[in-house]
Amino acid sequence: MLKYTTISEIQQCVKSWRSLGQSIAFVPTMGNLHAGHIELVTEAVKRADKVVVSIFVNPIQFGVGEDFSSYPRTLEQDQAKLIEAGADLLFLPAVDEMYPQSQTVTVSVPELSAIHCGEHRPGHFDGVATVVTKLFNIVQPNMAMFGEKDFQQLAVINKMTVQLNSAVKIIPVATKREPDGLALSSRNGYLTIQQRAVAPMLYQSLLAAREAVLAGETDFFTIQQQQKQFLQQAGFKVDYFSICRRDDLQAAAENDRDLVVLAAAKLGKPRLIDNIYFSRKTET
Ligand code: PAJ
Repeated sequence: MLKYTTISEIQQCVKSWRSLGQSIAFVPTMGNLHAGHIELVTEAVKRADKVVVSIFVNPIQFGVGEDFSSYPRTLEQDQAKLIEAGADLLFLPAVDEMYPQSQTVTVSVPELSAIHCGEHRPGHFDGVATVVTKLFNIVQPNMAMFGEKDFQQLAVINKMTVQLNSAVKIIPVATKREPDGLALSSRNGYLTIQQRAVAPMLYQSLLAAREAVLAGETDFFTIQQQQKQFLQQAGFKVDYFSICRRDDLQAAAENDRDLVVLAAAKLGKPRLIDNIYFSRKTET
């Protein structure tokens, strides 16, 4: 696996691949790779001739008091996992390489960035959209993989690429879970043993909400309240638990069919997020 830290090196390499007619898939990450990230790489290997992975802990998507400086950095292990998964190139820029000047030009998807996680993490999605735009411009891939685990992030990236007429095809990849249902996340490492035992209840609450909706319950407010209460009793501090329309992530109405339940809750130090999407049958 090739490893580059500068933009000029990676651009030269990618240019030579492109001149040979090879297709390029790109997997942007912040490292501390787990099996969820590796699913994205595996999907990339299946779909393209060359696979580029970036590891960059992006300062501009972290808020004040968030875990930018303590975000887990595990480069040795990450590299071994990427080699095993078949990645061709690892891009590892330093902060100065990505932001040689203060980043005043930003990309924003306002209608999707102020709600849910955005309400609790102001500026977060602008930071994500901006770094992803920069990385797309550097790598110029044919396609890029994003996990459904970060459903709102995926929606932001989809809208951004559509509205900016990006040539990059966005490939969503299903959420990888532990056997007990907990979605894999770099932040799970912050959980104590006791919290780790409680953490799968977040996914259980999503399953329960889905079950209630599919059973015909249309009082979404009450379902949300019940599941929030269930989580609070288990020790979570719930940021939001929302039954939404899948296309624009706005609160779902009784007659909406394609839904996603989005939830975020703190369990001790880490803030966990998860979601489940499903469709209700159309009435005949
Ligand atoms: P990071 O949290 O490292 O995640 C990188 C990619 O892995 C994202 O697309 C995320 O949705 C996906 N991912 C994480 N956990 C997953 C799981 N359990 N199953 C499937 N996919 C999973 O998301 C970011 O980094 C950053 O915001 C980034 C897009 C790199 C921009 O800085």
